[in-house]
Amino acid sequence: SERPFRIDAGDTSVECDPDQKMLDAFLRAGVWIPNSCNQGTCGTCKVRISTGTVDTPPPLDTVLSHTEQEQGFVLSCQSVPTSNLEIDSVTVDSSARHHVLRDISGTVGSIRQVADDTLTVTVMLDEPLEFTAGQYVELSIPGTGATRPYSMANPPGQDGELEFHIRRQPGGAATDGWIFDGMTVGEPVAMTGPWGDFCFTPDDPDLGLILLAGGTGLAPLKSIATAALELDPEREIHVYHGVRFESDLYDVEHWQTLAANHPGVNYTPCLSRGQWSGRTGYVGDAVIADLPSCKGFSAYLCGPPAMVEAGVKALKRRRMSPRRIHREKYTPAI
Ligand code: FES
Repeated sequence: SERPFRIDAGDTSVECDPDQKMLDAFLRAGVWIPNSCNQGTCGTCKVRISTGTVDTPPPLDTVLSHTEQEQGFVLSCQSVPTSNLEIDSVTVDSSARHHVLRDISGTVGSIRQVADDTLTVTVMLDEPLEFTAGQYVELSIPGTGATRPYSMANPPGQDGELEFHIRRQPGGAATDGWIFDGMTVGEPVAMTGPWGDFCFTPDDPDLGLILLAGGTGLAPLKSIATAALELDPEREIHVYHGVRFESDLYDVEHWQTLAANHPGVNYTPCLSRGQWSGRTGYVGDAVIADLPSCKGFSAYLCGPPAMVEAGVKALKRRRMSPRRIHREKYTPAI
């Protein structure tokens, strides 16, 4: 039938179209359920179905264990109802800011090469977008039906324009096939968003921030740093940006200017492969070397999974409380 299915979750109920993913239905209805990757790789969005059936690709064992699958857990970002559903009441993550997911349209405002294989692209929005610093949107690749996630690098509240940092992935449909190959200023861009629960939570205004980025994982941290400084220009913020070679570094001047204008801001670019007069090695090791204790800070990490895991280890070694560690692992958007 073409009628939407109903999903009941405790006190909450949403309608889901026959080809719509459950997570999409919840977020578009303004009902927040935890979510991160929207690609079936993180497990954040799992829900337990008590009644009803879904169409879902087999989940990775590492994301949903066999036991969980037997208990009726599914990944809501991958599952389409094939009947009305009852699921266990959804856990509302009170630390996340809840913005309704929607379709967004705009046009390319600028395209700038900022480092080797790295572009900064801005999109002028047709209508303002509400989001929380750290979140992302999914860009539709024209003519393919596929989407790719990109985090906003601008802070919320700059209504007209979004900034994205985009790294070329050789052979990738989005980057090689479109963004690095023929994207033009003025062309229309279709997106959905905002997605994700990697959200700046200014829970304690006195808390300093440690921001660890790998590559273009810098984008959401730029948004977070800007939002944090808008709230408190004196806030202590330690930014570590890890890249392989000096030619991969970008936005250096932006961070140096920020550090010059804000006494609390420290910016440390680190090269993991290249040699130069600045810091070398991994960002986690730099934190260990620089900060005798990370107590009293909160941290945001975004980058490749290995970098994020090493960074989390370093912060824990320096006594950061695990609940103050926020992380976003990105799977490269090819
Ligand atoms: Fe669904 Fe990551 S697995 S949001």
